[in-house]
Amino acid sequence: MTRRTQLELARDLDKVLFSAEQIAARVRELGEQVAQDYADRPPLLVGILCGCFPFLADLVRSIDLPLRVDFMGLSSYGDDTASSGVVRTTKDLERSIEGEHVLVVEDIVDTGLTMRYLLDNLRTRRPASLEVCALLHKPGPQALPVRYVGFPCPDAFVVGYGLDYAGRYRNLPMIGSLRSHAR
Ligand code: IMP
Repeated sequence: MTRRTQLELARDLDKVLFSAEQIAARVRELGEQVAQDYADRPPLLVGILCGCFPFLADLVRSIDLPLRVDFMGLSSYGDDTASSGVVRTTKDLERSIEGEHVLVVEDIVDTGLTMRYLLDNLRTRRPASLEVCALLHKPGPQALPVRYVGFPCPDAFVVGYGLDYAGRYRNLPMIGSLRSHAR
């Protein structure tokens, strides 16, 4: 992205919460942790589209193991900043996950609704193990078992590094809260 585009998009941010450098350092740590934990059972990483793509791309290159990757498409938001309460599968996995050590990679766990739906769905396919790695975790009553968390996230609507508002801001290298006038 050119500096001009970045500045233009960043004008809609209230505040930068996590810089590109902070994200890179934390993703490297997460990758090293995952590599240690899965050393004897190479994982299948399941990325949740679309928001996971920069995170997953950086994470897999920090995991020093012969892993595999698949994707699922889920959608719980329209072009709004609040959950519609309805989760839709927009793309299913390519292969069976029976007997696999599955690590779900998600950009953000907010209400937990999407993740709960997904974990219930994946459990019925009998993986050998099932864990979650979320870059951001918002505070809330979700009580979901998220094994790996990049950063606890303030209770604001955030964009950048894969996270969007109405399809925009995914290519910002940092993560920030979106100004209300930009919504
Ligand atoms: P949940 O079902 O409320 O946990 O929301 C999960 C999904 O909603 C995430 O995968 C994101 O795609 C989206 N989402 C939740 N909070 C935000 C946010 O602050 N910014 C952008 N997308 C969000």
